[in-house]
Amino acid sequence: MEQHSKFRSVMDEPGQFDFYLVPGLSLEEQRERKLRAVLIGAGNVAFHLAPALERVGICWVQVLSRNAENAGALAARLRSKPAWGGLEVLEKDGLDMSAQLYFLAVRDEAVPALASCLREQAALPQDRILVHVSGALPLEVLKPDSGPCGVLYFLQTFSKSAPCPDFSRIPVCIEASDSPTLECLERLARSLSGKVRVLDSRQRSFLHLGGVFACNYVNFMYTVAYDLFREQGIDFSLLAPLMEETLRKAEANPPFAVQTGPAARGDAAVLARQEALLASSETGRAYLEVYRLLAKAVQERAGKKI
Ligand SMILES: NC(=O)c1ccc[n+]([C@@H]2O[C@H](COP(=O)([O-])OP(=O)(O)OC[C@H]3O[C@@H](n4cnc5c(N)ncnc54)[C@H](OP(=O)(O)O)[C@@H]3O)[C@@H](O)[C@H]2O)c1
Repeated sequence: MEQHSKFRSVMDEPGQFDFYLVPGLSLEEQRERKLRAVLIGAGNVAFHLAPALERVGICWVQVLSRNAENAGALAARLRSKPAWGGLEVLEKDGLDMSAQLYFLAVRDEAVPALASCLREQAALPQDRILVHVSGALPLEVLKPDSGPCGVLYFLQTFSKSAPCPDFSRIPVCIEASDSPTLECLERLARSLSGKVRVLDSRQRSFLHLGGVFACNYVNFMYTVAYDLFREQGIDFSLLAPLMEETLRKAEANPPFAVQTGPAARGDAAVLARQEALLASSETGRAYLEVYRLLAKAVQERAGKKI
């Protein structure tokens, strides 16, 4: 995008994570300035990501969220002591226009409308960069034709209630509308993580899909076991060594090469007994269909006749 080629990000010394992206200023003037950013959203990702980005040189100037109290609680955690408020400030000329980066860390379904609102109603200047943090949303939702934008996707599960994850080990996938923006996001990502990859929107959506299977659905399998054990009065922590060993083996091998269990062996008698066991339990009946589907998928993958 031609109109953005004049924006350059500059970092004076490798390893020193201060970010500058101010067009038209001398290097000295730029050195005076850290990268200023506005955060929209105060949920699970924002809660952990905002302090982490602050530690590597981002100066948060404003935190906005649908619920102003949530924005205030997050702003209070940040050393840069940003202004905060509800999203209604966007309609009242209350958006801080002095930032270079505008992070949208809100639920996926809210991102496209907020991006339009920032570019159109709030009339965000054309050189400001919009960033979303979603694995599932394409870059296009940020409307690259109306200004520079990018994606900073952290492949990790974030919950406010969990301790802050170690960002240096979290893979970060980046994408941007133009090279200077990509360079800026890459520097930001590298300042936090040792594993940064440039992926396009389609690749990122597959990465996210892999995460849904490897994290969300695996966790749901834990939930099934948890529910069955609770019904039968069995201690769930007994499963921990098995869960750990399964992960260890899957990291060291192609996962299906170390697949075990009755479905992989094609042991029809055990499969039938376990289906009957599920059908005999009130909790188990709810998971009978899931069991059948998984058993069928494993046998098909193993090339076993069903
Ligand atoms: N959680 C993860 O593990 C994870 C991992 C990687 C990427 N992501 C991505 O990070 C982004 C945020 O996810 P999250 O888990 O932090 O979400 P979350 O905890 O559910 O937080 C959602 C945030 O979005 C705001 N919000 C919800 N609905 C909205 C709406 N209709 N309009 C405007 N704002 C709305 C909420 O505002 P209030 O709280 O003020 O109501 C809250 O600040 C998403 O794009 C997600 O795909 C999440």
